[in-house]
Formats: sequence, structure tokens, C-alpha cells
Amino acid sequence: MTTTLKDITNREDIAILVRTFYDRIRADDEINFYFNEMITDWEEHLEKLTDFWEMNLFGGKKYKADPLQAHVKVDAHFEGKIGPNEFGIWLNHWAQTLDELFEGENVEILKRRARKMGTFIYMAMFKSRS
Ligand code: HEM
Repeated sequence: MTTTLKDITNREDIAILVRTFYDRIRADDEINFYFNEMITDWEEHLEKLTDFWEMNLFGGKKYKADPLQAHVKVDAHFEGKIGPNEFGIWLNHWAQTLDELFEGENVEILKRRARKMGTFIYMAMFKSRS
């Protein structure tokens, strides 16, 4: 029997995606401490990330912060130890969550956008270290 998944079509879908993704992140002992140490209000974080990905996919201007600056701050807190391994783990959870829940064009777009953004975040971290 095959199950058919639907594509991501609205904010509610994004909210489910973000929550399932962070459940996985928080269950991952290799990287969960980065998040648990920096994020004091999880509900606020999940709402913000829902705003971020909703805007990324459907437009609008709900998300108003600066993700590069946010990660430079995280990297400084952990004294520059975030590297390709952490980005690889993050991106694997992202792709697996997307594939587990949805199927379609927007799934592929969100995989691509996260990969691309990962390289910009890493470059910003790297530059800030010198
Ligand atoms: C690979 C692509 C990644 C994307 C697209 C991404 C995306 C984001 C976004 C949009 C935020 C919200 C920023 C804000 O406005 O506060 C955020 C926060 C955060 N990210 Fe990432 N992230 C990525 C990778 C990582 C990695 C590899 C780590 C650590 C190992 C990480 C750790 C964090 C933490 C700790 C916060 C919360 C910062 C705070 O609120 O103090 N991220 N991320």
C-alpha cells in the first residue's frame, strides 16, 4: 500500500513542518545542546521559524530579524566550534522531516533554500571568526 502525501500549501503546513523538525533536533544528542542552550522560549522560537519559512515560501513580511547575525552570535557563544558536521546533521533532519510529511514542488524548494542558506550562514560565521 502506498500513501500519498500532499505538498506544503499554507501556514498550518509550515507550522507542522517546523514543529516536527525541532522535535528531531531536540532528540539529536549531537547537536541539541546548541539549541537548548540558546533558546529560552521555545514557543517563541517555533513561531518565529514558522514566520521565517512561511515568508520564504509564500512571501509577506512577518519575519523581521537577521538570521546571519543570529548564527554569528550562536557561533561566538560556542567559540567557533560549529562546522560542516553540524550543518550536515541539520540539513539531514530538514530533508527527512520534509520527506516524511509532504511531497511536491515546495518540498524540493525548501530543501534547496535551506542548503543555500546554510552556506551563507557558514560563510558569515567563518568571516566573523577572524
Ligand atoms: C543549515 C541551515 C540553517 C538554517 C536555514 C537555519 C535557520 C535559522 C533561522 C531562520 C533562525 C532564526 C534566527 C533569528 O531570527 O533569531 C535560526 C536560529 C538558530 N539556529 Fe539556525 N539554521 C541553520 C543551521 C543551524 C545550525 C547548523 C545550528 C547549530 C548547530 C543552528 C543553530 C541555531 C540556534 C541555536 C538558533 C537560535 C538563536 C537564538 O535565538 O539565540 N542553526 N536558525
